[in-house]
Amino acid sequence: MSLLEIEGLTHSFGENLLYKNADFSLNRGEHIGVVGQNGTGKSTLIKICTEQIMPDAGRVTWQPNTSVGYLDQYAEIEKDMTMQSFLKSAFSSLYQLEREMAMAYEKAAMGDMEYLSLAAKHQEQLEIHDFYSIDTQIEQVANGLGLLAIGLDRPIDQMSGGQRAKVILAKLLLEKPEVLLLDEPTNFLDKEHITWLSDYLSGLDNAFMVVSHDYAFLEKIANRICDIDNDSITKYYGTYSEFLRKKRF
Ligand SMILES: Nc1ncnc2c1ncn2[C@@H]1O[C@H](COP(=O)(O)OP(=O)(O)OP(=O)(O)O)[C@@H](O)[C@H]1O
Ligand SMILES: [Mg+2]
Repeated sequence: MSLLEIEGLTHSFGENLLYKNADFSLNRGEHIGVVGQNGTGKSTLIKICTEQIMPDAGRVTWQPNTSVGYLDQYAEIEKDMTMQSFLKSAFSSLYQLEREMAMAYEKAAMGDMEYLSLAAKHQEQLEIHDFYSIDTQIEQVANGLGLLAIGLDRPIDQMSGGQRAKVILAKLLLEKPEVLLLDEPTNFLDKEHITWLSDYLSGLDNAFMVVSHDYAFLEKIANRICDIDNDSITKYYGTYSEFLRKKRF
C-alpha cells in the first residue's frame, strides 16, 4: 500500500483551476521533487497532503499512523526558547521515556522489584532510538545548516528570520518522520548548507516530497519528479534531468 494516495483531485481558487481530476501517490523510499511554474499549485498540493487545505474534490488517503513532518514555505516558530531546547523538543517522547525509566528504577530501589524489568525495557528502547547520542545528532544537523556557529544557547527571539527557518528545518530532520514534506527548504540556505542538505536527504531511507526551483539541488536529491502543469499532476520515475528528457514541452 502507498504511504499516500490522492485520487480524483480537483481544486481551484476562484477562476484559477489548479488541478482537474488528478491522481498522485507516494510510496515508501520515494524521494520526490515537486516542480512547476510559479503559481501552478505546488505549495497548495503540499497543503492538501497535510490536510490544511480541503480540495474541491478528490480523496487523500494516508496509510494509518504515518508520521509526517512539514516545513512551510513561510514557517513560524515559538520564540521564547533557546535553539538547543527547541531542537531537543524533537526528542520529547524519548525524554518522557527517560523520566519513566528513572521513576521505575526508584520504585525498584524501594523494594518493588517488578519495576526493575520495566526500567530495563525502557532503557533498551532508549538505546535503540539513539537517546544517548541526541547531543551529537543535534550538533551534526546544526553544524550542517550553519547554526552551530551562532551558539546552541542562542534564544530564538534573537535570531534572524533566515536562522529561524533553519532551526525549524533542523528540528524536522532530527525528528526523522516517515515522510518529510518540505516547501522550498533551500530558500534560506547558502551553497555550503544546500550541499549538506542534499547529501543528508539523498542518504535518507524515508520518503519525502520537496518543492524546489533549484534544479541542481533537485538533481541530487530526487529519484522521482512530480510535475504540476496544465491542470494535471504527472509523476516521472528517475532524476530531474531524466524528467527533462522525458517530458514533452
Ligand atoms: N488561499 C488562497 N486563496 C486564493 N488564491 C490562492 C490561495 N492560495 C494560493 N492561491 C493561488 O493559487 C495559485 C497556486 O498557489 P501555490 O502557492 O500553490 O503556487 P506555487 O506553485 O507554490 O507557487 P510558487 O512557486 O510561487 O511558490 C496561485 O495563483 C496563488 O496565487
Ligand atoms: Mg509555493
